[in-house]
Amino acid sequence: MKLTLHVWRQKDRNDSGRMETYPADDVSPDMSFLEMLDVVNEGLIKQGKDPIAFDHDCREGICGSCAMMINGIPHGPERGTTACQLHMRKFRDGEEIYVEPWRAKAFPVVRDLVTDRSAFDRIIQAGGFVSVNTGGAPDGNAIPVPKESQEKAMDAAACIGCGACAAACKNASAMLFVAAKVSHLGNLPQGQAERRDRVLAMIARHDREGFGHCTNQYECEAACPKEIGVRFIARLNRDYIKGALKVVNRRETGASDAAG
Ligand code: SF4
Ligand code: FES
Repeated sequence: MKLTLHVWRQKDRNDSGRMETYPADDVSPDMSFLEMLDVVNEGLIKQGKDPIAFDHDCREGICGSCAMMINGIPHGPERGTTACQLHMRKFRDGEEIYVEPWRAKAFPVVRDLVTDRSAFDRIIQAGGFVSVNTGGAPDGNAIPVPKESQEKAMDAAACIGCGACAAACKNASAMLFVAAKVSHLGNLPQGQAERRDRVLAMIARHDREGFGHCTNQYECEAACPKEIGVRFIARLNRDYIKGALKVVNRRETGASDAAG
C-alpha cells in the first residue's frame, strides 16, 4: 500500500505546531498503525530528520498509551479498537490519513502526538481507590461478591484510561472515564464505605483539571476502545446526587456518614 500521512508536528508545549506531510510507501496491510509509524520514522531518521513522537507501551490494547486522533476519530475508524490494534487493511491504497494528538485542554501536547494525560492520574488519586486497614491479608473469597455485581464491576474495569472519551467530546468531558472508575469500585462490597465521598472527590478533581461537563452527546461511547457504555454515566449521576444530599444532610443535622 502507498499512503500519504499528514501528521501534527509540535516541538514542545510552547510551539504553535503545524501539519507536515510524509509519504508512507511499502506499507503492508497486516501492519498495525503504530508499526506503520515505526517504518515512517525509520525513513525520517535515515534522512536526518526528527522521528514523529508518539506514546505506546503494550501494543496489545491494554495500557491506553497509544493516544492519537486518526482521520479525526480517537484511535481511528474501527470501533472498539485502540490505535495499536488498528490494522492498515482498514485503509484504502492511496488514502490520505490525518494523524493528530488528543484534542482537550486538560491533555496538553508534550511533543507531536504525545499528550500529558496525568490529569487522569490526579482524578484517580482523588478517590479511585478503596481504603483498607493494614494487617493480615484476608482470604481472597472472604467477602462474597454477587455474580451480577462482579460482572458490572468488570465491565467498568475494562476502562484503560486512554482519554479517547474526552478527546471525542465537544466539551472535552472525561465523564465516561470517571463513571467507569466510580462504577468499578461502587459495584463491589469493598467499595461501599467510600462510595458517596469518592464520586464527589473525583468529579471535583475532574472539573478542576479543566475537563468540561457532560451534555449527553454520546461521542465518548462511540470512541471508547473498550466500549464502555454511557449507562455508567447515569449511574455516576445517581451516586453524585446521593453524595451531594449526604453532604447537605451532614451540614444540616450533623448526621453520621454511614453509607447508604
Ligand atoms: S472510558 Fe473508554 S475512552 Fe474513556 S478512558 Fe476509559 S477506555 Fe478510554
Ligand atoms: S499501546 Fe497499549 S493500548 Fe495501545
